[in-house]
Amino acid sequence: MDAARFAQSHILNQPVYQPGKPIAQVAREFGLDPARIDKLASNENPLGPSPKALAAAAAALREVNLYPDGSCWDLTGKLTEILQVGRDQLVLGNGSNEVLELVAHAFLAPGTEAVMGVHGFAVYRLVTLLMGAKPVEVAMPGLAHDLVAMRAAVTPRTRVVFLASPNNPTGTAHTEAELVNFARSLPEDVLFLLDEAYVEYQDGAPDLRPLIAEGRPVLCTRTFSKIYGLAGLRVGYGYTRPDIAALLHRARQPFNLNAVAQAAALAALDDTDFVQRSRDVNRRGLAQLGAGFRELGLAAVPSAANFILVEVPDGAKAFGFLQAHGTIVRPFGNLPHHVRISVGTADQNERCLANLRAYLASRG
Ligand SMILES: Cc1ncc(COP(=O)(O)O)c(C=O)c1O
Repeated sequence: MDAARFAQSHILNQPVYQPGKPIAQVAREFGLDPARIDKLASNENPLGPSPKALAAAAAALREVNLYPDGSCWDLTGKLTEILQVGRDQLVLGNGSNEVLELVAHAFLAPGTEAVMGVHGFAVYRLVTLLMGAKPVEVAMPGLAHDLVAMRAAVTPRTRVVFLASPNNPTGTAHTEAELVNFARSLPEDVLFLLDEAYVEYQDGAPDLRPLIAEGRPVLCTRTFSKIYGLAGLRVGYGYTRPDIAALLHRARQPFNLNAVAQAAALAALDDTDFVQRSRDVNRRGLAQLGAGFRELGLAAVPSAANFILVEVPDGAKAFGFLQAHGTIVRPFGNLPHHVRISVGTADQNERCLANLRAYLASRG
């Protein structure tokens, strides 16, 4: 019998996440030299991993016959020092994606709703659907989250509000005052998940820890995949109220963070030079791409992150052309006149702009 006949019905309609294409796949498909392909599709760090993290990961490999520390004691300890929160406020995940999924496990079920922006990070919708709950996608006029409309979309069935600042894929960000007011406006039985995946790139990042300390149901998530350059090792975390963290720990697997990832993330937190360099390269890259887009007559959404959403005549065609010429960017089905371009090194950005120029010229 076809397994679909005895599977849960909502799984049959579950969309599958479409990741940015790996370099090797594009090289195979287009007969390109992998060394000449720039992946500017997944907002990764163009400088590679933090060198300190790499050394720590190599050392940790020698002990992979042993299970990892399920409590992530050392990494959690370091995060408590940096964030000035208690151990009981932290939950680590196999990427911050896992923390998003833990939230869905703990708070969402059929009959409940999660509010999110229609151009928010795709995984919010996926984890909501996975639990058989309903994603309520709020319009984003001007491509920024409309906090008034999001608040109005909250109903007695709402359990979670997902919001990233800076947001992926738009790059838009909210001020601390806006986020605090929004969090305070929500009912006490609605979890406000503020996704801070790109917060390290932002100047003057908002701080919601006072709200958490005062007892609001707020969970902030962060990742080692972006500025720390460890996307391939999968490490993320959330900090929140202790009772919320305790619920998420119930839903997680005993050894969800592997030993190599734990060691690398711990060392990456100490690599402040690398983080500063990554921030500088990003700032220069944003300016370089912004100037290039202006020269090409392309409008871009001002970005507080390590990528830019740029308007093009046809997103799918621009993606196809750029890919065939060695620059992988990201198209979006619900943004047909945009592509998202991750900030690369100066050379990668220059090649991307040259390919964009050629794409525009190819349209005659
Ligand atoms: C807004 C946002 N949140 C979360 C993630 C997931 O990151 P991680 O690699 O930590 O799972 C991403 C990755 O692109 C993201 O853009």
